[in-house]
Amino acid sequence: MSEQVLFQKSFQIKGNDFASAGEASVQIKNILKEVGFDSSVIRRVAVASYEAEMNVVMYGGGGKVTLRVNPEDVILIVEDKGPGIPDVTKAMQEGYSTATDEMREMGFGAGMGLPNIKRNSDELKIDTAAGKGTRLEIHIKRAVNNG
Ligand SMILES: Nc1ncnc2c1ncn2[C@@H]1O[C@H](COP(=O)(O)OP(=O)(O)OP(=O)(O)O)[C@@H](O)[C@H]1O
Ligand SMILES: [Mg+2]
Repeated sequence: MSEQVLFQKSFQIKGNDFASAGEASVQIKNILKEVGFDSSVIRRVAVASYEAEMNVVMYGGGGKVTLRVNPEDVILIVEDKGPGIPDVTKAMQEGYSTATDEMREMGFGAGMGLPNIKRNSDELKIDTAAGKGTRLEIHIKRAVNNG
C-alpha cells in the first residue's frame, strides 16, 4: 500500500562531530512545532530522532535522517553507511553499549537509545548489515490516543 507523502525533508548527520550533534533533531522538532503537531507526538518524535541521530554520530560515521509526514503518521528514516549492528537483539537490550570511555565521559553509553526509540515508536524496523550500514525506519502515529 502506498501512502500519500504530505511533507518530506532530509538532514545530514556528521560522524563523530559532537559540536553539531543533535542539530537535525532540533530542526525536525521545530518543523513539527510550526505545523502545530500535538505536543505528545512531537515529544515522541524528538526522543526517537535524537537517540537515532546520536547513534549515527557515535557509531555510524555520519549519515542522514529523513522526516516524512503522511496522513497517518510521522516517519523517521535514519541511515548510515557505518559498520552495522552485529547483534540487533543484544543492541536492543537496555544497558547494552559499546560506547568508548570518551563517549561515556560525555554522558552517553547508558545503552538506552535503541530501547527508548522502540518505546516511543508505534513501529520500528531495523535493517543492518556488517560493513554496509544501518537503516532505521521509525513510525509514530499522528493521532493522539486518549483512550
Ligand atoms: N547506527 C549504528 N551503527 C552501528 N552500531 C550501532 C548503531 N546504533 C547502535 N549501535 C550499537 O548498539 C548499541 C546500543 O545502542 P543504544 O543507542 O541503545 O545505546 P548507546 O548508544 O550505547 O548508549 P545511549 O544511547 O544510552 O547513549 C551501541 O552501543 C552500538 O554498539
Ligand atoms: Mg545510543
